[in-house]
Amino acid sequence: MLLGETMATVARRNAAGRDAGPGEATAAALVPSRPSLPRLREAAAGCRACPLWERGTQTVFGEGAARSDVLLVGEQPGDKEDLAGKPFVGPAGQLLDRALEAAGIDRRRTYVTNVVKHFKWEPRGKRRIHKKPDAREIRACLPWLAAEIAAVQPEIVVCLGATAAQALLGGSFRVTRDRGRLVASPLAPRTLATVHPASILRMPDEASRQAELSRFIDDLAAAARALG
Ligand code: URA
Repeated sequence: MLLGETMATVARRNAAGRDAGPGEATAAALVPSRPSLPRLREAAAGCRACPLWERGTQTVFGEGAARSDVLLVGEQPGDKEDLAGKPFVGPAGQLLDRALEAAGIDRRRTYVTNVVKHFKWEPRGKRRIHKKPDAREIRACLPWLAAEIAAVQPEIVVCLGATAAQALLGGSFRVTRDRGRLVASPLAPRTLATVHPASILRMPDEASRQAELSRFIDDLAAAARALG
């Protein structure tokens, strides 16, 4: 389910000017050729390539400047994002904003998105509890991310957490082992992975939260340095 392969599929289809053939993801058939971000967002709003659209309030497409240097990829929208229709606006997003600032990355030079564009959840009482997307849901959604990366053409892609890192860099990628290091990929001139900000919020006490936040800022600062 590597994103590089999906990018190649979308590019091939667009070059040929035809719809997706048998075996190609349904979302790939919806991606307009030579798409701008507004056209992509509009097309993705009607995506039903996997069953998640039935439970989510709306497609939560990426957001940010069309020519951002830094493209950040999370896992999927959470409860707040699902309701707002915007990525990373909840607690994890607020922590991400603070960490970006501390790392010297101007939020206005970033584009923020997710591997999966619908909120996957299960009810627990009155609450909607986040559930990890499965491989099929990730694969179905990847054409949107491929098209976003192709449209934004970032200098660096930053994967936030294991779901994003493994979808983009392969199942054997380990964030614990390889975080904060530049890795080669066909996605952008530079790619780097770090933890998901939500994992910092889940730390059991303030001291470990602060320690993890500081490592997260270090990883983002490595991305900033790579930009020069
Ligand atoms: N977590 C994510 O991975 N993405 C969001 O947009 C919010 C929380």
